[in-house]
Amino acid sequence: MSTQVPETETEAEAETESKPHQERRLAEKEKRREAADRERVAREEIEAADDSVHLKVFRYDPEVEGKQEPRFDDFHVPFKKGMTVLDALMYARDHYDSSLTFRHSCRQAICGSDAMFVNGSQRLCCKTQMVDLEEPVRVEPLPHQEVVKDLVVDMQHFYDQMESVEPYFQTNETPDGELEEQRQSRENREKIKMSTRCIWCGACMSSCNIAAGDNQYLGPAAINKAYQFYMDEREGEDMQEHRMRILEQEHGVWRCQTQFSCTEVCPKDIPLTEHIQELKREAVKSNLKFW
Ligand code: FES
Repeated sequence: MSTQVPETETEAEAETESKPHQERRLAEKEKRREAADRERVAREEIEAADDSVHLKVFRYDPEVEGKQEPRFDDFHVPFKKGMTVLDALMYARDHYDSSLTFRHSCRQAICGSDAMFVNGSQRLCCKTQMVDLEEPVRVEPLPHQEVVKDLVVDMQHFYDQMESVEPYFQTNETPDGELEEQRQSRENREKIKMSTRCIWCGACMSSCNIAAGDNQYLGPAAINKAYQFYMDEREGEDMQEHRMRILEQEHGVWRCQTQFSCTEVCPKDIPLTEHIQELKREAVKSNLKFW
């Protein structure tokens, strides 16, 4: 009498234990089948395509055993007219290895999230055409930044430097009426126009040798942001002085050695080095004393 109840319970337990196990196995099997299908589709597309492109992608995952050693993985992707590096990376991730990790969002050079080191130069992947590159196309994370995983770097230091120049409009002279505009002259708008194009991608900072050697250097992006507001006629003299104190500090504008690497890689064509030199001249002027 005493044995029958536990036996039934054990059977029931075994059944409930095995059900999720079975479901998991089925789900894994399904996943494997889907991955094999994707690979097959990729192979067929490569065969059908007139051409394919060869990517060499940097891989590193500190959290997975066996993947902690940095390495390069090869991917062959069917070429399509107008294909960008980002398109090729997405194809590789979607068809070959879903663990391939990289940032992207807008796909139209606006969000700044997919700046990477492509064939030895900092570029926005969504703006870089595959036809313009020599193969194999080598894709690496931005240099001089800590790699989190594969092509993803830690941007915190870059954001801290941007934050340190107070990258927002500040003025005491707010207009009277509730809906009054704070007007800016056409000439002034024209002057700061290029500086406003920054998308915070970090390509300039990553290309700068000075920033690589001096962790406290504000860097071209932050100085350009400060330029935008320093040159804005609506902020007033007090604020200009305050901004200049930030810019002329030990790790500010005077660190720049006019190497132009930031200007060369900027995907928005901002004349970064020129802006830094202009601020150096402003720094000299603000310290001149006339007796
Ligand atoms: Fe937004 Fe490239 S994905 S800039």
